[in-house]
This record gives sequence, structure tokens and C-alpha cells, in this order.
Amino acid sequence: MSKIIKEIKDRSYNAVYGKGVYKLLYRCCNLCRMTFDPAYRSRVLSSLRFKNDYHQFSNATETDRYPDLFNIAKEHFKEIEQPKLLSFGCSTGEEIASIAQYVPHAELTGTDINPWCIKKADEEYGSENRTFIHSLSEDFTQLKDLDAVFCLAVFQHPANRHEKHRKESAIPFEKFENQLKVLDKKLKPGGLIFLDHCDFNFMETSLMPHYSILNAPSNPKVRERPLFNKDNRKIAEVSKCFRVFQKK
Ligand SMILES: C[S@@+](CC[C@H](N)C(=O)[O-])C[C@H]1O[C@@H](n2cnc3c(N)ncnc32)[C@H](O)[C@@H]1O
Repeated sequence: MSKIIKEIKDRSYNAVYGKGVYKLLYRCCNLCRMTFDPAYRSRVLSSLRFKNDYHQFSNATETDRYPDLFNIAKEHFKEIEQPKLLSFGCSTGEEIASIAQYVPHAELTGTDINPWCIKKADEEYGSENRTFIHSLSEDFTQLKDLDAVFCLAVFQHPANRHEKHRKESAIPFEKFENQLKVLDKKLKPGGLIFLDHCDFNFMETSLMPHYSILNAPSNPKVRERPLFNKDNRKIAEVSKCFRVFQKK
């Protein structure tokens, strides 16, 4: 079943990025989605509005999507009184609600570039200890002294995964690195960066000398997805990557 869904996705992306008879049909479907699907409409409108700042376009998310990473956070923060944790690219808030299950004593902030997501997250999951803010807001600029930042399924582009013969990344490494530099400034020494479903390797960034790989058995993971290097060239179809780094 998952193979069939993947094939349909690949064909759709080929229809968008390549040439094909499906292209017109695909665009008509998207027009219908624009009209009837508020989540999709918000993605399109906000990606037009904040084009240059966007990373991942899709806002797909799930509850408890990364139990192995959330367990690392649970263990790491169990003795810390009220850790300040950020979900960067929190979508509609399920990630924040999930982290709250693992680290209930945390002060949680979710941020996203899509205003519709932030509104929805706040309505559904907002509370005294769970705040949702726009990633281009003054509130986000002021955010600091964080104990951890989660960047999960944010630094990726669908064309990198769905265009099988693509050799160069559809998003530049520089954009990934620059965003991480912004997040790094908000992180305390000893703080953690969690990265997963990512087109690039954190270890290639200029930040790496200031970080170490967190020693946790479930930190490394083999991912069946293309990996691009800092020159934006595809270097692997499958790779084992570390996903949690600690600031020195
Ligand atoms: C695929 S969702 C991931 C949601 C969640 N982190 C997860 O893994 O389930 C990617 C999210 O990143 C957000 N995003 C993209 N560019 C962003 C940016 N510059 N700042 C904050 N969020 C961004 C998108 O709006 C989208 O909601």
C-alpha cells in the first residue's frame, strides 16, 4: 500500500516539475484543494507571502511522531527544573503536545511560519506552559536561553525526495546553515538540537566544532532518503545520521 502511495506522490511531483499530460489535471486538483481545504490554502498563501524564509512547504504532522527522540529528551531533562524547549516548524501543534507528554515540566514554545498553523495550534493546545508564536515575529526574535530546539521535518524539499534523478539540492545548504545559526544563538551552552528528516548533515555546518554528538543509543538512525552535502550535491540515497547534538 505504501509503495502505491509513494508512486502516486512521485507521479504528482513529476507532473509539477516535469512535463506530462497529468500536469493540467494536477493543477485542477490543486485549485479544488485551494477552495475546499483550509490547510492547503494556508500553505499556498503563506509560502507566497513568506517565500524567501520558507523551508519545508508541507505542514503534515502527527502525534508522537518521534518517540525515540522524545524519549531522549525525557531522560535528558528529567532532573532539570523547567527546561525551555522550542519546536521550530511546529505545524498545528501536535509535536508540542507530544513533547509535553514526555517532558511535562517543560516550558514549551512552538513556532511556525504558517499563521494558520499557529492559530490552530494555539486553539487546540495552547496553555500557560505552551505558547505558539510566528517564526518571523518579535516574540520569536526575543526568544532565548533555550534548553533544546526540535527541527523535525523542516529542512527538506519534496523535489529532493521525489525527483529520482536529481543531483543538486532544490534548497541550498546555506539556507539550512543560516537558519541553524539563528537557532544556535537562542540555545544555552549544554542545550540540545534535535534534527530529523533533513536533506543535509548538521555535521557539515560551521556550527559543528561548537557541538558534540549526544551519546544516546537511539541517536543515530538509518534513513532511506537522499542526502545532500554542503556543495548541494546528492551524496547518498540511504544514510546513517546522528540526530541530536549538544552545544559545548
Ligand atoms: C512537515 S511540517 C513538520 C511538522 C513537525 N515538526 C513534524 O515533524 O511533525 C514542516 C513545518 O515547517 C514549517 N516551516 C517552514 N519554513 C519555516 C520557517 N522558516 N520557520 C518556521 N517554520 C517553518 C512549515 O510551515 C510546516 O508547518
